[in-house]
Amino acid sequence: MPIGFDQETKEFHLYNGSLSYIIKILYTGSVGQVYCGAPLAPHRSYPFLSLTASGGVLHPDKSMARFEYPAFGTGDYRTPAFVPQFADGSTLTEPVYHSHRIYAGKPAIPGLPSLYTECTDEADTLELKLFDELFGLFIILYYTIFADLPAIARHSRFVNEGKEPLVLRKAMSLNLDLPDNNWRVISVSGAWAREFQIIESPLVAGFHGVKSAKGNSGHQQNPFLILKRPAADDSSGQALGFSLLYSGNFTASVEGDCYSSSRVQLGVNDETFSWKLEKGAFFDTPEAVLVYSENGLNHLSQVFHSLYQRRLARGIWRDAERPVLLNNWEGTYFNFTEQKLLAMASVAKELGIELFVLDDGWFGQRDNDTSSLGDWYADTRKLPSGIAGLAEKIITLGLQFGLWIEPEMISKNSRLFEQHPDWAIGVPGRPRNEQRNQYVLDMSRQEIVDYIAKIISDVIASAPISYIKWDMNRSITEAFSLALAPDRQSEFFHRYILGVYDLYERLTTAFPHILFESCAGGGGRFDPGILAFAPQGWISDNTDAVERLRIQSGASLVYPQSSWGSHVSAVPNHQTGRTTAISFRAMVAFFGDLGFELDPTTLSPEEKKQIATYIEFYKRHRKTFQYGRFFRLAAPDPALYTAWQASSEEESLVGFYKLQAQPNRAPVRLRLASLEPDALYTISLWEQGGFEANDRTYNCGLRGGDELMYAGLSLDTTYVTKQGDFFGEIFIIKKREEQEP
Ligand code: DGJ
Repeated sequence: MPIGFDQETKEFHLYNGSLSYIIKILYTGSVGQVYCGAPLAPHRSYPFLSLTASGGVLHPDKSMARFEYPAFGTGDYRTPAFVPQFADGSTLTEPVYHSHRIYAGKPAIPGLPSLYTECTDEADTLELKLFDELFGLFIILYYTIFADLPAIARHSRFVNEGKEPLVLRKAMSLNLDLPDNNWRVISVSGAWAREFQIIESPLVAGFHGVKSAKGNSGHQQNPFLILKRPAADDSSGQALGFSLLYSGNFTASVEGDCYSSSRVQLGVNDETFSWKLEKGAFFDTPEAVLVYSENGLNHLSQVFHSLYQRRLARGIWRDAERPVLLNNWEGTYFNFTEQKLLAMASVAKELGIELFVLDDGWFGQRDNDTSSLGDWYADTRKLPSGIAGLAEKIITLGLQFGLWIEPEMISKNSRLFEQHPDWAIGVPGRPRNEQRNQYVLDMSRQEIVDYIAKIISDVIASAPISYIKWDMNRSITEAFSLALAPDRQSEFFHRYILGVYDLYERLTTAFPHILFESCAGGGGRFDPGILAFAPQGWISDNTDAVERLRIQSGASLVYPQSSWGSHVSAVPNHQTGRTTAISFRAMVAFFGDLGFELDPTTLSPEEKKQIATYIEFYKRHRKTFQYGRFFRLAAPDPALYTAWQASSEEESLVGFYKLQAQPNRAPVRLRLASLEPDALYTISLWEQGGFEANDRTYNCGLRGGDELMYAGLSLDTTYVTKQGDFFGEIFIIKKREEQEP
């Protein structure tokens, strides 16, 4: 009984054995939020939970009631989930229940990315239709509950069936009123090259939130929020996660109110949004996903991972092992010739690399970042045989070929700008910001999307290309479209991202064999919206292994390892100046889609030998590194160590990373996750080369799952003191077939 409706109590119960979500049509016709959390028996009704005394769904003071999709202006003074402005200028509405539909499967959202099912028994959907009679506004709330995961996808559709146009000034994808505020709030914060830093704070009265107003989801914050009980940690306790499938300006907030309840909202950032809804028109919000975990944050993350790996990503790359790549960016920047690239590629082949990616600088006359964006034809000064010629030669060497593009941009110094200066975003009569010496194309205009789709398709079709890195190196300023009427200018940001999705849809459909990797100066637009098209992303321009531990741990809250481009680069590191051993850089990059971002022709014979063995090791375990169930392990002292585990049916791989050595410390224990307590496991070490394994082999051999989980691996002075800073280990743990009698 995944979605039940009790005619008598007017309760809807979305239930799947790991989650219950109960809402109720109140006597006023409004819809109240009764319960969201661990599963409750599906065939009962829950009138007690609706009583004023037990949490206030029906409270006569509307500021104390719990609504499913609250309006403003009739007594609930908290932040509303939506604000329509009607033809008479009023914003007052209190839509009431009109009808509902329950069916198997899940609908798609036109023009927007969304989770999907492969067969209808994977999920059930409730469509709840609300109605404002005076102005003929329908609001349809969509809820899809997945059969096997504690997850619900939600979005809202506004339909104007009135006689006049109206304007949506705010339209959230999800509102959730919770009966208490005993939560801590987790989000990420950051900047360019410092994305995904985890922030945790208590939920006190007032607003907590993250948002973007940059035209992309941004390096600064990411469209998700997690609420966890104060005692919950990675391995235990209750948590609720909220993630928005959107790549533009978003908001994700929680309002702790003066009655100790809390209101969560996710949606398009209403500070930079409004939408005119003509008579007969409809508007869909992006989709938001709610996940509940009774067993800590790792479980919460794993539910997001499996949804985003298997039911958001699409096409042949969804389940395929991702190739080990060499990207030339940090190896050459703009300064390369065909000869240089071929020399790099031929060493790459020797090392076992599978894909060569040519980054920025191959088109127009681009020797630095001041020119040529928009001129998508090869620079024959650098590439005399063009992209096709280079690609053929790379393929002859035994590698696949991939290419960088930045399709949404235009340089002032470009042929495209000479021809179409009006295609760049800007407000007539006002100066335009040139971030990174470039402007942004107005992707809200159909003819521009059409032009870019054609020109990029021509490039891709002209050569044997199997991978595209799609970059976006600046955010939007002076938002304005020459194609929009004055009363539609605040639709610009949403229309921009719809244009980007349209372009992605066309290119991924036309070239289904291509692996797309998204990028926006690193993690400036790494979000679930983009993952629907590009199943992997360059999550940060920071390639320093120590920094990556933090960045990848933060990304792992919501995003699976198969979505993290994770590269080994040269030392001293170009972003931090830090030097770490090649083995340490590799063992961090193993978790994710491994790549190299250096000039391999400069490697010593010893380094080449080492790297070749690393790549060979990675390929043997790639399925687990990329797709295994991921755990942030409780490192004995998080200031000094980080530890990760990825587990597949075949094995568990555990990465332990020491950031700082300290003298005179006792050995520490590292407790592993999710093994069978009664099973026996063999432990071996990744042969990292350059370090004698002899004094670390004491951990190898046969161990019980109980010992590894409850007592842990013992890490002696080799790990905590000797070997200096930035030393680590990869433990390979396999279940022994023959178990103890
Ligand atoms: C920013 C990206 O994150 C880098 O990897 C590289 O592609 C540059 N842009 C190229 O301009």
